[in-house]
Amino acid sequence: MKILFTKIEQGWLTQVAQAASSLGLETYLVGGFVRDKLLNRPTKDADFVCVGDALMLAQKVAAGMTPRPTVSLFKTFGTAHIQLPGGWDLEFVGARRESYQSNSRKPQVEPGTIQDDQLRRDLTINALAISLNASNYGDLVDPFGGIADLEQKILRTPLPPDQTFADDPLRMMRTIRFATQLGFTIDENTWTGICQQAERIKIISQERITDELNKIILADKPSVGLDLLYRSGLMERIFPQLVALRGAEYRDGLGHKDNFYHTLQVLDNLSLNTNDLWLRWAAVLHDIAKPQTKRFEEGHGWTFHGHEVVGGRMVPKIFTQLKLPLNEHMRFVRKLVELHLRPISLTKENITDSAIRRLLFEAGDDIDSLMMLCEADITSKNKQKVNRYLSNFQLVRERCREVEEKDQIRNWQPPISGELIMQTFGLSPSKPVGIIKDSLKDAMLDGVIANTYEAAHAYMLEKGKELGLTPVSS
Ligand code: CTP
Repeated sequence: MKILFTKIEQGWLTQVAQAASSLGLETYLVGGFVRDKLLNRPTKDADFVCVGDALMLAQKVAAGMTPRPTVSLFKTFGTAHIQLPGGWDLEFVGARRESYQSNSRKPQVEPGTIQDDQLRRDLTINALAISLNASNYGDLVDPFGGIADLEQKILRTPLPPDQTFADDPLRMMRTIRFATQLGFTIDENTWTGICQQAERIKIISQERITDELNKIILADKPSVGLDLLYRSGLMERIFPQLVALRGAEYRDGLGHKDNFYHTLQVLDNLSLNTNDLWLRWAAVLHDIAKPQTKRFEEGHGWTFHGHEVVGGRMVPKIFTQLKLPLNEHMRFVRKLVELHLRPISLTKENITDSAIRRLLFEAGDDIDSLMMLCEADITSKNKQKVNRYLSNFQLVRERCREVEEKDQIRNWQPPISGELIMQTFGLSPSKPVGIIKDSLKDAMLDGVIANTYEAAHAYMLEKGKELGLTPVSS
């Protein structure tokens, strides 16, 4: 395995090496940057470890650059950071040994050698270093077999796993995340360590956990990571609602599918077509309320009536629990969960304009995302069935296009405001205003009136009359 540095990379590597040499500091390029270069993955974050004062080194490096970049110094942690044009992030840290208290994330740190520093890293493939020292410039320093593990696609801790994971339990999730992103296998011993220490994930902040979970969800094949999280016992601790989907129950010879593995399949299907984190979250959560709504109907089988409604209500709670943002992204996921059965139900009946208008009105600009989710939701093994569903959805898409072209419903705003209704009939905010507003919306969506101001105005007057209201003269 050989590393090919670009001209730009060679430029700042030389500058770091010169600065280190002038200060007499033994210095190495380490960690994820070395791993990603060896794997030919794009990367812009470079970590440097020096045996000594990293803050001094970073300042010396910056002083040698034109224009001189700003150095951010984090004295409490002994780290420094330089951002270069083009998005390069250089991070400097002194080699250290550290150990953690058994019930806290707060490390006790003391200076160490490069080997100490490599040893305290999470995985052998993340513990590779490249020397920037004159005596062996460019040599790989690989005391724990990181290169062999890269070649064999194995994830292994440099120390016994219980020690590495006790130091920072988030590493269990990182290991599973790398297995998902890189398609690597977790070494048996390391895997046992994860299963045994799963409970320790509880001392990690929700933000760091969710950050890893999002990275797994954004991988090419997220099911790999979600299944590993489940099988290790980590999922039970971080996201029990998803684990509740696991399993299939049988009664009178009638079963239902395992909704956990179904959800994973939907997520994988969807991930072939989108990198949108929130659309992927909609896939994760689309059936989340199936356990709560599961019923066995005699002679019929299992039903999950209303799971989309209950599921929609669970979305803000799960977002709060996982510290995901409670903003438009949450509302998007909730909307998709609530609507995910609508296009399917449309394919089962004669598709009326009215039904399409209602779907367009409710989905708005998210109609395409919704259709993608519905298509990904087809996980039948029966090819014929899959093709039939897909062509039905194609029909729904076409009908949506036709109706949208004709009626422009997507971002529909009522042409008559509540304000105007009150003015027209001399009303203050009251029930009849809401009744007229709702009936106007229904009339428009049902195609009773055209989507124009004139038609809506006439309809408002008619509806007012029905309610015994008389327009006040203006
Ligand atoms: N590291 C570690 N334990 C952690 C986090 C990081 O040992 N919990 C070490 C690893 O050597 C890692 C390096 O610090 O390679 C840099 O960490 P970071 O930038 O967070 O991760 P990367 O490995 O670079 O990967 P990614 O950016 O994909 O997270």
